[in-house]
Amino acid sequence: MIKKAVIPAAGYGTRFLPITKALPKELLPIIDRPTIEYIVNEAIEAGITDILLIVSSNKNAIIDYFDYNIELESILLSKNKVEEYKLVRNIAQNVNIHYIRQREQLGLGHAVLQAEAFVGNEPFAVLLGDDMYVGKDQPAIKQLMDAYDVVQSSVLGTMEVELKNTSKYGICTPKSDAVKPYVELKGVVEKPKVEEAPSRSAIGGRYILTPGIFKLLKNQERGAGNEIQLTDAILRLMATEKVYAYDIIGKRYDVGNKVDYIEAILDFGLKKDEIKEDLQKLINRKAK
Ligand code: UTP
Repeated sequence: MIKKAVIPAAGYGTRFLPITKALPKELLPIIDRPTIEYIVNEAIEAGITDILLIVSSNKNAIIDYFDYNIELESILLSKNKVEEYKLVRNIAQNVNIHYIRQREQLGLGHAVLQAEAFVGNEPFAVLLGDDMYVGKDQPAIKQLMDAYDVVQSSVLGTMEVELKNTSKYGICTPKSDAVKPYVELKGVVEKPKVEEAPSRSAIGGRYILTPGIFKLLKNQERGAGNEIQLTDAILRLMATEKVYAYDIIGKRYDVGNKVDYIEAILDFGLKKDEIKEDLQKLINRKAK
């Protein structure tokens, strides 16, 4: 049973500068809740009991968000604002959230390595702090946890992307006899040139990994972007263990990308009772 999840959230968020100078990308609001709360909730819904958030020195606001704020709560109660009190009190219940700082931003692989002591010797989930999913029927990470139960090996959550976008992702090479839904891989490459992409199957920010990844991350050389890449260590893992790709069924938003971020706000807004009608009218007006 997979019970632990790691959420790397220590990156610089350069695509969203200058706001990310002061506000962590993971706290960019989807109206009134930060993106990372949706990701934490996805893990909770999947049955994860312990989450390690990987943060950096200027991300303390993330830790504050998931903590109680006794002063605010008592002020709300003294003003009889019980609903507002519940809103701030009931964030991320029923899960233990742990934190560790990645002291240098050397890449996603290096971020995941910080989770070694937390994870121990069991398989674990990784959810990137800027990828939001609305899974069909099941949360995205639960789909991968169920796939792990079948294959008992590492599973990468994938999706088909357009060829021109392959250079933005880790791209999978399936074995020639692989069949969906559990696609055994023979390779994976981080951000290949479009003309060198081995397929259009891209890793979309969700992973189940076996603890064997840690000894590889420890001596992983820098790769694409001069960063220590998780994808490169996963490729080396394939020398000793099977690694599978599994297509996540659902809608993904790369919140580090501005248009995806706006789409997430619109889609979530259209599900919010108190604004959905007015928002739909606004969208119709703008579309004209
Ligand atoms: P990204 O490359 O999308 O995030 O990394 P970034 O570096 O913050 O953003 P841009 O590209 O500069 O706009 C994917 C995930 O890995 C985390 C990020 O926080 C994000 O959740 N990450 C990346 C780390 O935790 N540490 C790192 O050293 C690098």
